[in-house]
Amino acid sequence: MMCTADKVQETLGRTLDFLKEHQNLIDCHVVDFLWNNHWEKLLPVDLRKELDANGGEIIENLQSILSGNCPYKQLREFLTKAKNHSLASFDQAINLEDFLPEEQPLKVTDFMTPKKMHEVKSASRLVSWLCSKSKSPIVVVDAGDGKGYLSSCLAFEYNLPVIGLEANADYQKSAENRVAKLKKKWKISDREKNYKSMAITVTSDLRIGKMSQEVFSMDDEKNFCLSGLHTCGDLAVSCLEIFIRDPHVRYLCNIGCCYNLLSRFPVSTYLANQNFLLSDRAKMLACQSLNRILQGSLPKNSLHFRTFFEQLLKEKYPLKDFEQLGKIKCNNFNEYFKICCKKMHLEPFYSDEEICEKFSKYDRKNLDIFYILRSSIAEAIETVIILDRILFIIETCRESKVHLVKLFQQDISPRCFAIVAEKLP
Ligand SMILES: C[S@@+](CC[C@H](N)C(=O)[O-])C[C@H]1O[C@@H](n2cnc3c(N)ncnc32)[C@H](O)[C@@H]1O
Repeated sequence: MMCTADKVQETLGRTLDFLKEHQNLIDCHVVDFLWNNHWEKLLPVDLRKELDANGGEIIENLQSILSGNCPYKQLREFLTKAKNHSLASFDQAINLEDFLPEEQPLKVTDFMTPKKMHEVKSASRLVSWLCSKSKSPIVVVDAGDGKGYLSSCLAFEYNLPVIGLEANADYQKSAENRVAKLKKKWKISDREKNYKSMAITVTSDLRIGKMSQEVFSMDDEKNFCLSGLHTCGDLAVSCLEIFIRDPHVRYLCNIGCCYNLLSRFPVSTYLANQNFLLSDRAKMLACQSLNRILQGSLPKNSLHFRTFFEQLLKEKYPLKDFEQLGKIKCNNFNEYFKICCKKMHLEPFYSDEEICEKFSKYDRKNLDIFYILRSSIAEAIETVIILDRILFIIETCRESKVHLVKLFQQDISPRCFAIVAEKLP
């Protein structure tokens, strides 16, 4: 099912309303949790009362609650509402398996983590399927190629000519080294020439046709498929623009990530006209994932320590701002307190005993719950970012079809949706 402007706009509208409703929660600075009393000020009263009464059990049963078995009405409603605004709930999203049945496992999996293997397996299936639609010879251009995992798979397993473009010259070098090892081990001499890579920063004015003529010394006209597996920040938008502007780029398969690095939002005219912006904190939040919490990663000590220190500092020096102190290695809050004071050129303003006494009363439960509630909104922010991109293509490239495809298992790879576009003949 392809994405239509009407449906995307309608979904964006609803998701925007939801985000606006929770704007203060999204834009807050979590380390001010105690000092600014986020618990009382930022949570709806009924929800807070329910959490106050049941906090301990909620933390104990977190796995079950986040898996959908939540006996607490207010909390259930909050989590369900947030989930309803995730990309998975978008009516026009489709699953890879719905149109491409699973094939053989990958052979060339050297030097890949299980997560990377999972991603490459699905992404390569999708990209090669797109390429198979091309009536003319096709070249894949992989933007943000990293260490060449996807591109080498397409080149050697799917026998497609590929150019990997990577801004970081060290990564590009390791991609070449890895490919050299693969060539030796797998004896892929007939496909050896399929893979090329370049250390280059992709921008929206990249001329792919010219570049690939130079790389492959080809003179006949080619079609291109522009792939990008976890194109961080603005690289995703540059890829969309290249697809839109360059008639030879017939296919696009883009999976975004690192929304915190994004400066180009919104890109659709529709959203720009709504004057809707995402704060830096909202973009940071979009990178979080409830799945990580489901896998057991509640906020670390460092967030609790930092929050508690902020409270002590502001009580003593209301006008003093915590400075960026970098990572602090410590075994307990006493050590943390002393290191922070030293870094801020302050005399420790409490004794060891006083700090022990104060921290013994600190209850981490509320901050943990607050963090979870806030994280549950992350996917709605992602929805707005991705649907804005889809709408941008629909608005500016009328002769194309756009799809939103769920490619990966979310618990393995949380940034799991691909924007897939093809130009009509
Ligand atoms: C999250 S990594 C993904 C790497 C690879 N696709 C993978 O899945 O293993 C994103 C990569 O994009 C590269 N990158 C970011 N912006 C870029 C740009 N404008 N042009 C080329 N590469 C870029 C980064 O250096 C990084 O290697």
